[in-house]
Amino acid sequence: MNHYFTNEEVKSELRRINVNISDKKFVFNVDNGVFSKKGLDFGSRSMIEALLTESLSGKALDVGCGYGPIGIILSSFFNLSFDMIDVNKRAVHLCEMNIKENKVNCNTFVSDIYENVNKKYDFIVTNPPIRAGKEIVYKILFEAKDYLLPGGVLYFVVNKNQGAKSMVRDLSKVAKVDVLKNNKGFFVIKCIFD
Ligand SMILES: C[S@@+](CC[C@H](N)C(=O)[O-])C[C@H]1O[C@@H](n2cnc3c(N)ncnc32)[C@H](O)[C@@H]1O
Repeated sequence: MNHYFTNEEVKSELRRINVNISDKKFVFNVDNGVFSKKGLDFGSRSMIEALLTESLSGKALDVGCGYGPIGIILSSFFNLSFDMIDVNKRAVHLCEMNIKENKVNCNTFVSDIYENVNKKYDFIVTNPPIRAGKEIVYKILFEAKDYLLPGGVLYFVVNKNQGAKSMVRDLSKVAKVDVLKNNKGFFVIKCIFD
């Protein structure tokens, strides 16, 4: 497997974690050098649980998929097919393993933001990479419009200490923005662009 990681600096230590959501059990392969390798991130969990109350359908994209929890879990609950993208090759490799492991019908590929995306979707989900900086996060959020079908929806999660309020304010200039849930400071946000 090492050939997958030739561009990665961090030593590989592949392992498996269990994630339970509602009545379903998932297994994820995780590794060093990917986000939240110790277990499902609380923000991602907050968004997944909030979206279980939405009626999700159609073609979907998970931006910054990491090892794949958001797209894979939502695919399993809603019987959807997600495209799942990340700039991190190791994350995409793990996501590929996890798609098979959890027997969902998804597709994953490397993409720096939307550079390798050539389709439009009914909805986009993201737990955006705050550490990558505001410019990248804002590109992911604002350029989502170009990859959504008419009436398409962007869902994302962000902590109140990571600029949630200013993101809501800025996105409100170009979209109808609703806060679906505030789970201990993690805002799950729904945007429909004008
Ligand atoms: C907060 S993590 C979320 C990971 C995963 N969705 C989860 O819930 O565990 C953000 C992800 O965005 C990815 N990322 C960072 N910069 C990116 C970029 N320019 N284009 C695409 N993905 C990027 C990171 O590699 C990371 O996997």
